[in-house]
Amino acid sequence: MRIAVPLECSPGEQRVALTPDSVARLVKGGHEVRLQAGAGERAGFPDSAYEGVGASITSLSRLHADVNLVCRVQPPSLEEADALPQGVALVSLLAPTRNASLLTALAARNVTALALELVPRITRAQSMDVLSSQSTVAGYKAVLVGAAALPKFLPMLTTAAGTVSPAKVFVIGAGVAGLQAIATARRLGGIVSAFDVRPAAREQVLSLGATFVADELVAEGAETSGGYARAQSDDAATRTRAAIGAHLPTVDLVITTAQVPGRDAPRLISGAMVATMRVGSVVVDLAAESGGNCELTRAGETVHTGLVTIIGPVNLPATVPFHASQMFSRNVHTLIAHLTKDGALVIDPADEIAGPMTVVRDGRVLVSSDS
Ligand code: NAI
Repeated sequence: MRIAVPLECSPGEQRVALTPDSVARLVKGGHEVRLQAGAGERAGFPDSAYEGVGASITSLSRLHADVNLVCRVQPPSLEEADALPQGVALVSLLAPTRNASLLTALAARNVTALALELVPRITRAQSMDVLSSQSTVAGYKAVLVGAAALPKFLPMLTTAAGTVSPAKVFVIGAGVAGLQAIATARRLGGIVSAFDVRPAAREQVLSLGATFVADELVAEGAETSGGYARAQSDDAATRTRAAIGAHLPTVDLVITTAQVPGRDAPRLISGAMVATMRVGSVVVDLAAESGGNCELTRAGETVHTGLVTIIGPVNLPATVPFHASQMFSRNVHTLIAHLTKDGALVIDPADEIAGPMTVVRDGRVLVSSDS
């Protein structure tokens, strides 16, 4: 199989879909891997590292000649989609419910497109799940971003200039990103509390040594069979906001990660709640791109209320491009191995992993879109 990896052109994107260690495995497996010059450079993987493991480096104009599979991080632009060869397979993040015109363009080129967002959440597919791997990166980086904006130390310090008490960190939403945020804040010496609606998350919070806020709000029915949260009833949402509101004035750094698949992020912190927070405290809202958990969040911006700083980062994984790419790449090459039969790419609609991921096939768009 011939595999192509382009240079990512989306603003701020520094990751690359395949790193040299994955390419080495693919080449050993008998595949030919071709990268656009400079594709891995911003992530810390120079062209020479790819050439050293048997890949070829080429210009964009030659990248696609005779390829079977294109691997990307971000969805292609419409222009990039139009440049894909007829009938090729594409593995990439595609934001399929928000990208109707892109999917139509891919269908017009008879591309078979697999959306990495749609890797099913089953144990067998865990090693292919880029949402999980990149959430790990985001959870880690969110704490660093918050710590850098905080006018305080996170750890307790005992110095000749006196003793400094540790900062208090509150993590709302203890899924993949939230758990990594808890672990990172603990490593930095913060005193960490957390909240989630799912019982499994509560156990994980406690096992990381954080305290759990509002046990009484954890509900057995809060989790879908896929492991995600359901949207709360109005009554439960009101009680959740009250519990969060009571805790906010006692903390210094808040990391919010709460998401419900297919919906806007739940609004858990109002402007009035922010007004009760300590002077100098910081909110890092990881749900900024899906509307924000905090009413005052602006995606991609930092809002200063005068007392509190609210940071709405977008695409944090791209700011840790070396390890984020390495994890993304391992997910992708594990997926490629799953899709390879006798050296050729086989995308079987009945396959329990490839089936749900396939959003364009045989000239048809297979998902409905919001746009
Ligand atoms: P996510 O990014 O969709 O949501 C983040 C967190 O927000 C979740 O823990 C959710 O329960 C929480 N949340 C939603 N509404 C909330 C509210 N009103 N208040 C407080 N918290 C709220 O989810 P993520 O982190 O991607 O995954 C969630 C779970 O899915 C994992 O913890 C795991 O159990 C499961 N999972 C399974 C995988 C597999 O088996 N392949 C892979 C990854 C995750």
